[in-house]
Amino acid sequence: MKVKINVKKPYDVIIEKGILSEMAEYLPIGLKKKTAVIITDNNVMPLYEPIVRKSLESADFNVFSYVFKSGEKHKTPEELVGILNFLAEIKVTRSDFIIALGGGIVGDMAGFIAGIYLRGIRYVQIPTTFLAAVDSSVGGKTAVNLKAGKNLAGLFYQPEIVICDPETFHTLDNVTFADGVSEAVKHGFISDEMFFRSLSGKTREQYMENIAEIVMRNVEIKGEIVAGDELEKGKRQLLNFGHTAGHAIEICTNHAVSHGQAVAAGMVLMSRAAYKKGFCDIDFSQEIEAAFSGFQGPINLNYSAEKLYETGLSDKKRRGAKINIIIPERIGKCVIKEINAEELLEVFRLGLEKK
Ligand SMILES: NC(=O)c1ccc[n+]([C@@H]2O[C@H](COP(=O)([O-])OP(=O)(O)OC[C@H]3O[C@@H](n4cnc5c(N)ncnc54)[C@H](O)[C@@H]3O)[C@@H](O)[C@H]2O)c1
Ligand SMILES: [Zn+2]
Repeated sequence: MKVKINVKKPYDVIIEKGILSEMAEYLPIGLKKKTAVIITDNNVMPLYEPIVRKSLESADFNVFSYVFKSGEKHKTPEELVGILNFLAEIKVTRSDFIIALGGGIVGDMAGFIAGIYLRGIRYVQIPTTFLAAVDSSVGGKTAVNLKAGKNLAGLFYQPEIVICDPETFHTLDNVTFADGVSEAVKHGFISDEMFFRSLSGKTREQYMENIAEIVMRNVEIKGEIVAGDELEKGKRQLLNFGHTAGHAIEICTNHAVSHGQAVAAGMVLMSRAAYKKGFCDIDFSQEIEAAFSGFQGPINLNYSAEKLYETGLSDKKRRGAKINIIIPERIGKCVIKEINAEELLEVFRLGLEKK
């Protein structure tokens, strides 16, 4: 299966079970016979690096690997500099390329490095988490975290190709798998009602039954939104549905809830608040909650609106006294709405009240 992402410099996303062992065959001609540097983390390294390396070596690529420790606390400028120095030491040139093999952290870091090393070399995304496949590997956003917050330094820098083997999701733990589910449900909710309904209530096993098709539809949805707004000046913001509240929940709970759990809660909160504020005619919060019934118990909304508001307001999406929130019009169609920053407190309050 192939999806074309029609950004300024278009590229393909190939999704195929078992593709990892023959990934070299799918690389664009321009990358052939070059040096490939695989960037990955210590969890993914033993699982999938040997398969990728074997495919590359048998196609006559010169292969190096760089492994860093997994986890958000290693998605840092310090780690980034370490990798840049490694590339320079092994004399990677502008005709060589990077392979980001891993989840969203590897993808964001490796993409950023590709964007700045020698003012930009090419890179390939090989997402190995469900979230990376449906979300972070597509669209060209790259970043590292700074002390003041997540993803504060980065670039928009698109890959040459994305190669996704959904077989790799078998080794994910349940929380990491469910993080991808949140983004998949979000994509359905913001732009495709039938797709949203087809995912609703599915268990992990049921997702895996037609996982390649599910990834493909997600990539199509995200690709279409990104192609219309590569630099996030307008409609790409729709992808942030549930994320302002979700981001605040993640911080308030000191990351005890995962990104996906927080976004699921954020989408429920925003739907309920949008209805109570009269921004839409129907309260979709229960349908969103039901979409996750195959994964987790009831979605926890025991947070204080004030605390969420303080945290939510420091969100980088804030623009002066006005902020954009994403609200549903109906299932399959969300819209961007500009509100005053103070109104967000009321939105959070209404969204947190059960009835
Ligand atoms: N660039 C974007 O548009 C974008 C979008 C969404 C999220 N993100 C970023 O993505 C990151 C989250 O991505 P993630 O959820 O993939 O997290 P991650 O990269 O931390 O991966 C989650 C965990 O799973 C492990 N792992 C990865 N693949 C595995 C596999 N196949 N089998 C077993 N273990 C595996 C990793 O080592 C890690 O411990 C965040 O930093 C977020 O900011 C970026
Ligand atoms: Zn997200």
